[in-house]
Amino acid sequence: MNKQMMALMVTTILLATSTAGMAEERVRIDMGAEEQSDVYDRACASCHMAYAPSMLPERSWKKLMSDLENHFGDDAEVSEEVQQQVTAYLARNAAEHDDKRYAKSMLGLLRDNDTPLRVSGTTYFKLMHDLVKPHMVGLNSKVKTFARCEVCHHQALQGKFNRMDARIPGYFKRGNRFVPDRLY
Ligand code: HEC
Ligand code: HEC
Repeated sequence: MNKQMMALMVTTILLATSTAGMAEERVRIDMGAEEQSDVYDRACASCHMAYAPSMLPERSWKKLMSDLENHFGDDAEVSEEVQQQVTAYLARNAAEHDDKRYAKSMLGLLRDNDTPLRVSGTTYFKLMHDLVKPHMVGLNSKVKTFARCEVCHHQALQGKFNRMDARIPGYFKRGNRFVPDRLY
């Protein structure tokens, strides 16, 4: 092996290890549930992603699960058996039973009489998305709604989030603002 090839190999190895390290570091907020549930995925991940149970308090899941027929303008009804299994799964793994940072902060900012039915309806969520203005979502044909976490967060399906990796289609971050791509 000549010197050039050797140098190339070393650089490749260094690059590979440093990107692997970075990928791990990039998860700032992990909401992934330890307990997975196929029943939950089948019942709740056909119209949108399966939200991590720790994204909402127990009382929110119970309320949401008690009226699936009127689910945000859709009918998400399931059999009584599935309904019970999913409710139990969500309750068991809800924010109160998760000791990670997101759950604690989200609950901390929630008033006792507040039972949000939307992950995107919690105060903590709104604080974290302060820079993401409504028109960047609602009037953005590639996004439409905050409910589609995975459009802007590439590891959302694994329950992993990081502001450094968050992307709004059609916008880029300039200083402390998101500005439309097309202006540049
Ligand atoms: C038939 C389609 C459908 C099914 C099945 C479904 N949902 Fe939904 N869900 C929706 C729609 C539509 C919305 C509103 C999305 C929006 O605001 O754009 C929604 C929104 C939500 C939200 C609020 C998201 C947010 O933060 O804005 C939660 C939480 C949720 N669903 C939980 C569930 C659970 C739990 C199940 C399984 C029992 C389920 N969904 C099954 C259609 C469905
Ligand atoms: C329109 C794109 C968009 C959607 C949809 C979206 N987010 Fe975000 N999110 C962002 C951006 C951009 C940031 C970083 C904001 C900033 O830089 O201040 C962020 C920040 C966050 C953070 C903070 C991460 C950190 O490192 O502190 C969390 C957690 C998060 N989002 C969760 C969610 C969840 C859960 C959903 C779905 C219910 C969601 N987001 C939907 C764009 C989005």
